[in-house]
Amino acid sequence: MSMAGCFWIVTSIGFFGFALGLILDHFLPLLLNLGHDLPRGTFGWPLLGETLSFLKPHPSNSIGAFLHDHCFRYGKVFKTHLFLSPTVVSCDQELNYFILQNEDKLFQCSYPKPIHGILGEVSMLVAVGDIHKRLRSVALSLVTTMKSNPEFLIDIERTVIQILDSWKGSPQVMFSVEARKFTFNVIVKQVLGLTPDEPHTTKILEDFLTFMKGLISLPINIPWTPYAKAVKARRRISSTVKAIIEERRSRRSDGGGNYSNKKTSHDFLETLLGVESLSEDEKVSFVLDSLLGGYETTSVLMAMVVHFLGQSPTALAQLKLEHRNIRSMKEEDELLNWEDYKKMDFTQNVITEALRYGNVVKFVHRKALKDIKFRDYIIPCGWKVLPVLSAVHLDPSLHSDALQFHPWRWETQDQTCKKFTPFGGGSRCCPGSELAKVEVAFFLHHLVRKFRWRTEDGDQPLAHPYVEFQKGLVLKLEPCSI
Ligand code: HEM
Repeated sequence: MSMAGCFWIVTSIGFFGFALGLILDHFLPLLLNLGHDLPRGTFGWPLLGETLSFLKPHPSNSIGAFLHDHCFRYGKVFKTHLFLSPTVVSCDQELNYFILQNEDKLFQCSYPKPIHGILGEVSMLVAVGDIHKRLRSVALSLVTTMKSNPEFLIDIERTVIQILDSWKGSPQVMFSVEARKFTFNVIVKQVLGLTPDEPHTTKILEDFLTFMKGLISLPINIPWTPYAKAVKARRRISSTVKAIIEERRSRRSDGGGNYSNKKTSHDFLETLLGVESLSEDEKVSFVLDSLLGGYETTSVLMAMVVHFLGQSPTALAQLKLEHRNIRSMKEEDELLNWEDYKKMDFTQNVITEALRYGNVVKFVHRKALKDIKFRDYIIPCGWKVLPVLSAVHLDPSLHSDALQFHPWRWETQDQTCKKFTPFGGGSRCCPGSELAKVEVAFFLHHLVRKFRWRTEDGDQPLAHPYVEFQKGLVLKLEPCSI
């Protein structure tokens, strides 16, 4: 047979295979589930489905055109095709709660494969089953230890003061950058005991930024793509963390292999080193999870609080009054303590409202472990399931004036309810929620007493789905003292 003939046959087979793949990918889930009462909806384009429309950026205090149109056409629960998989999207309070509460029984955490490639298989953020349980129990005990450590609050407040001191004399700052600097410095200190000026901190930050860019890039693992760079950056961060672990071990070891009390640190790492249920790789991965979980989310929350307060002078005035009162009971430079934190009631309401209205995390990834009947439809086994947390937060049938920033609503409303789940729920509920809130509250305590600020018009939090301010949230500053 001629070369041209061979080429024609190979190309035809290839094309036929590709077309068959597309058809199977697209229609097989429907054919297999013909007898089922699937939620209404459409699969969109072959392979891509409706992923691009689903991911289209929109203000994070709205549900965006895609969810708006689909909920209007098909109801709050609908089927579609996202991230290469047939999917059920839920904007329904009851179904979201049911999904989050049934982790590992009916549903399971299921982040897209490329994310596993970057985070690694022993990351708590993607691990499931027994590995997840083991990692999580360590995380919870670490959080408890951390909160009982008196240095915990002092470190956070010192970091706030350091950042705000660096603003002195500046007419403006790019707040998104400053907030990231703050949350990174806090988490690196809490987890690894490092201060901002140590060489390890600079190196981790540099690699971490590359790592974060890769998480939201196309998963193409060839050199020079952001994805490939992120995979490499993760390896470098692992090596740095391993080196820090070794340094810590040798610093603490008395030469005979026993720990001495030459210098006692109070960070996560110190406790983590003594945990026997985790392998060395799991410990390193655990450190990375804490950095990743605690860095971007908290800085986005801070930026949203500052942005919304800038648009709500009444809320800002009440917040200032609360912090002025707290300060009036203390010496000029006396540091804050847990009792002060507990007095920050209105601050808590502001933070809670920013979490509801601003939506740091829009949705979480799950898959159905079996055919699941919910109300009058079936969610087929193996399908992806996306509970959209923001849709419930912004649902006008659940929250009055849902599209208004109104912190006072939390004076009478319980924060632990099905219609408010900014930190997820069930057995994967965020272990860092308290740390995030303390950070924001302490930051506000000093910010409102030292500065007045104005934000630029037109900059708003956009869900990509990761939230960011397009212009970086520039604050025009004026020093003040209350
Ligand atoms: C405003 C701040 C934060 C928000 C909105 C947030 C939100 C969330 C959400 C929604 C989840 C659940 C993910 C899922 O169900 O798949 C989660 C899990 C997690 N978060 Fe956070 N988080 C925040 C701060 C933090 C901080 C400060 C830390 C670390 C110190 C942290 C560490 C984690 C970890 C390790 C998990 C995985 C838990 C598990 O799978 O069991 N987060 N977070």
